[in-house]
Amino acid sequence: MNERAKADNMDFLTEGTHPIVEAESVVFSYPGAANAALNGLTLRIPAGCRTAICGHNGSGKSTFFLHALGLHRPSSGRLLWKGTELSYQAKQLKKLRQQVGLVFQDPEQQLILNTPGEDVSYGLRNAGVAEADIRHRVKQVLNAMGLDRLTDTPLHHLSLGQKKRVALAGVLALEPELLLLDEPTAYLDRGSERQLMEELDRVHKSGITVVMATHDMNLAYAWADWILVMDQGRCVMAGTPEQVFRNEAAITALGLELPMLLELWQALPEQVREHSAPPRTVEEMKRYLNRLPFAGT
Ligand SMILES: Nc1ncnc2c1ncn2[C@@H]1O[C@H](COP(=O)(O)OP(=O)(O)OP(=O)(O)O)[C@@H](O)[C@H]1O
Ligand SMILES: [Mg+2]
Repeated sequence: MNERAKADNMDFLTEGTHPIVEAESVVFSYPGAANAALNGLTLRIPAGCRTAICGHNGSGKSTFFLHALGLHRPSSGRLLWKGTELSYQAKQLKKLRQQVGLVFQDPEQQLILNTPGEDVSYGLRNAGVAEADIRHRVKQVLNAMGLDRLTDTPLHHLSLGQKKRVALAGVLALEPELLLLDEPTAYLDRGSERQLMEELDRVHKSGITVVMATHDMNLAYAWADWILVMDQGRCVMAGTPEQVFRNEAAITALGLELPMLLELWQALPEQVREHSAPPRTVEEMKRYLNRLPFAGT
């Protein structure tokens, strides 16, 4: 690996990983807005990886997702899907949207029919799935999201967290190549979050590239292979979780927090930490603490 690639933090991408989506100098303003929502955004989403996009409120995460799907069009700059510039012709957009699934930040924007069962079936019918397969696929995906008992419950009787899971089920049922999740754990309790993460692991292992916009640094740190940090419509940091969070001063200057596990880790004496990589999960931290000389005394 050459030093230049290392310095650019692109080493991960040059080792046989191709970008599935790229933004190049993308500028976009919402009508009537004083400031650009995307202000020269350049980033790459590595294919086959779990990427977390972090950034404070208003940094442009959701606006980027809408660009990745071709729902917004940049005023300058361009988006690429597997190396080819996005075309905004209806036929091409339809094809793109069969390959990219977006779970909106607000489930109310996504769900249109009356019940989870109807909503997920509608998406499959629209995608041209045979009627005979629809019932089976709906059952399977609602089960996976722990929603089987709510299949026929009116959507307006569901909690926000339940609606969020229905929206995700609807997108997963379509088996996209790239799954974009906008704040997927917002409104979810711990049990539902764990279930979601297990489902996402299964989805990722099946070969789907998964990208998540999140404010939850603990989640990003534990889950992601690759982290992008956005600020004021730009991507300001890119790297593995270790690379990104090593830069504590930059993270806090951006108004973000260090993951709690890293804070705890750094509170341990340096001689204890010096030959070990920081733990990524609570389980790893527990195993590590149990090995320390004072453990069990
Ligand atoms: N529909 C809209 N109309 C006008 N301005 C908008 C609209 N949606 C977003 N913006 C503006 O664009 C900028 C980027 O917003 P965006 O929703 O992409 O940020 P975000 O990183 O997803 O934030 P959050 O973490 O709150 O979800 C913000 O300044 C926001 O005020
Ligand atoms: Mg958002």
